[in-house]
Amino acid sequence: MKEKDILYLKENVFKIIGKDNALLTAGTIQDFNAMTIGWATMGVLWGKNVVIVYVRPTRHTYNLMESHDIFTVSFYDEAFREKLSYLGTHSGKDEDKVKNCELTPMEVKDGGVTFGESRLTFVCKKIYFQDLNPEEIPEFVIGKYYSRKDFHRFYIGEVVLLLEKEKI
Ligand SMILES: Cc1cc2nc3c(=O)[nH]c(=O)nc-3n(C[C@H](O)[C@H](O)[C@H](O)COP(=O)(O)O)c2cc1C
Repeated sequence: MKEKDILYLKENVFKIIGKDNALLTAGTIQDFNAMTIGWATMGVLWGKNVVIVYVRPTRHTYNLMESHDIFTVSFYDEAFREKLSYLGTHSGKDEDKVKNCELTPMEVKDGGVTFGESRLTFVCKKIYFQDLNPEEIPEFVIGKYYSRKDFHRFYIGEVVLLLEKEKI
């Protein structure tokens, strides 16, 4: 993997997040979990490049987000769609799903974990978190996404490293 300058990133973030989806991996190589995400925000806050992820408290990944400061958001080629689907429908509470998916965990410089198969990884350091406030969420959103009242907690991560798979 090659370190990349974020200013020269040539990606459509709406596509790679909303259509391709990504893996959120929380924790360190000794203790991590990964799940598929379809929601994320990328931008600039407090003078820092940030990625914001939204995690329901029912996820096993939530526990790892709480206990560690480092997380990664990684993107994959279309060939990995089935694996992303698996990681988005099975829980690390019940199985070693990363092993079952045959992905290759890889420790990154700042202590987070990504996978050898990823084409692009944002390594992030948690700088803020907050629960969505149900009172401020529009009614149509509550009805559509929160019938179980499992409101997301969002985590803002400062991007400390961007890694791209080297083309062979
Ligand atoms: C396409 C897709 C997008 C998803 N996006 C999110 C998300 O943004 N936030 C979230 O909390 N769960 C999301 N999920 C659900 C989790 O990936 C799923 O519940 C997963 O099994 C949790 O794994 P864990 O319990 O090992 O953390 C998504 C699932 C899929 C298939």
